Amino acid sequence: MTKTYSHHLHQLQAQAEQALARCGFDALVIASGIEKYAFLDDRPYLFAPNPHFKHWLPLVNHPHSWLLIRPGHKPRVVYYQPDDFWHVPPSDPAGEWTELVELVVIGQPDEARAHLQVPGRLAIIGEADAALDGVTPNNPADLLNILHYQRANKTGYELEQMRAASRRAVPAHLAAKAAFLAGASELDIHRAYLAACGHTDRDLPYTNIVALNEHGAVLHYQYQEAQAPAESRALLIDAGAQVNGYASDITRTWSAGDAMFDALLARMEAAQLALVDEVRAGVDYRSIHLSTHAKVAGILQDLGVVKLSVAEQLAQGVTSTFFPHGIGHLIGLQVHDVGGFMADDSGTLSPKPEGHPYLRLTRTLTPGMVVTIEPGLYFIPTLLNKLKATPAAAAVDWNLVAHLSRFGGVRIEDDVVCRADGAPENLTRDAFAAQA
Ligand code: GLY
Ligand code: MN
Ligand code: MN
Repeated sequence: MTKTYSHHLHQLQAQAEQALARCGFDALVIASGIEKYAFLDDRPYLFAPNPHFKHWLPLVNHPHSWLLIRPGHKPRVVYYQPDDFWHVPPSDPAGEWTELVELVVIGQPDEARAHLQVPGRLAIIGEADAALDGVTPNNPADLLNILHYQRANKTGYELEQMRAASRRAVPAHLAAKAAFLAGASELDIHRAYLAACGHTDRDLPYTNIVALNEHGAVLHYQYQEAQAPAESRALLIDAGAQVNGYASDITRTWSAGDAMFDALLARMEAAQLALVDEVRAGVDYRSIHLSTHAKVAGILQDLGVVKLSVAEQLAQGVTSTFFPHGIGHLIGLQVHDVGGFMADDSGTLSPKPEGHPYLRLTRTLTPGMVVTIEPGLYFIPTLLNKLKATPAAAAVDWNLVAHLSRFGGVRIEDDVVCRADGAPENLTRDAFAAQA
């Protein structure tokens, strides 16, 4: 990791120096953030670090720490390490990053101030509640636009972390599949997942979606039922892992065996692979989203669910009933990473295609971007009811819809790197292949 991390740090330093100069600032200060407490309670919520902080350092459980970036200086890390007997404090600073920064260890949050107050205009990135007397986050929009725009393109170090995050999640997906085929409950499938990747719920990059049967039709199904259903027909599991603050985001749909649902799964698998292959430098990501709608229409027609041509389905908006979300998003320090709608680094927005309100990424792909490709096809009662009230309802095989509804739906999601030339790197499929 040595060379790639130091290269990463140098690149962030160079980018920050340019951004500071462009925006008229002399230094950049970044707060890691503070723990937040439940109302009228002494229980903290899970700590979520400022992503700008963990961009520079592999430190994710470090509230009250700070970074000071100045042109021509090493980054200064103000490292909070309290003397605490209620909780485990951060361990002594260790790792290669310590050799590449100026390190100051503090025992009280307020001590940070003395190490952050440097002359000149400061850009201070952080949440309002991270403020110290005289160090108040101002989050300059022009500077944030530059940093957010650039963050989409990963350094070699970041790609290493993201490969590792996929490799960490894949054995857990296989354990979840085995638990499903053995008839386990959602809760036990979830436990099998955690055990296999060595995470607890605290470590996950997002709440696992572990959905049996009809629950697969709830896009962000948030429960894990302790009771196994009488019959486990399908599992849709959307679950990732984290390495040094970088996420993976992977969905697999498994079937216990049904001719029609398996035919749907096979077609979705083929469509997903074809969509992954569209991740190329210069491609407008919106076109991949629109291409997904055409593929979903083709599958609905092929399987006889909707007896309308692709063109007719698209003209009547039928596919949005079955595929209501976006084809994917940027991923990295955050599962849904920032900057998905930026046309440039000065804040110009790139609009969503009309009629596609849930698409989270509208940029043109460039080398080093990491995106998800996650087509889905679901049987969502509330959307099907709306479809029933349209003229297209006459072309729908409602008996087939009723049959497939018992499986919830299909989503297949990979994390994919856009490369300068040729085919993309599929972090997820590579990790599955390495397990085979
Ligand atoms: N896991 C949430 C998503 O796929 O976007
Ligand atoms: Mn996703
Ligand atoms: Mn996902």
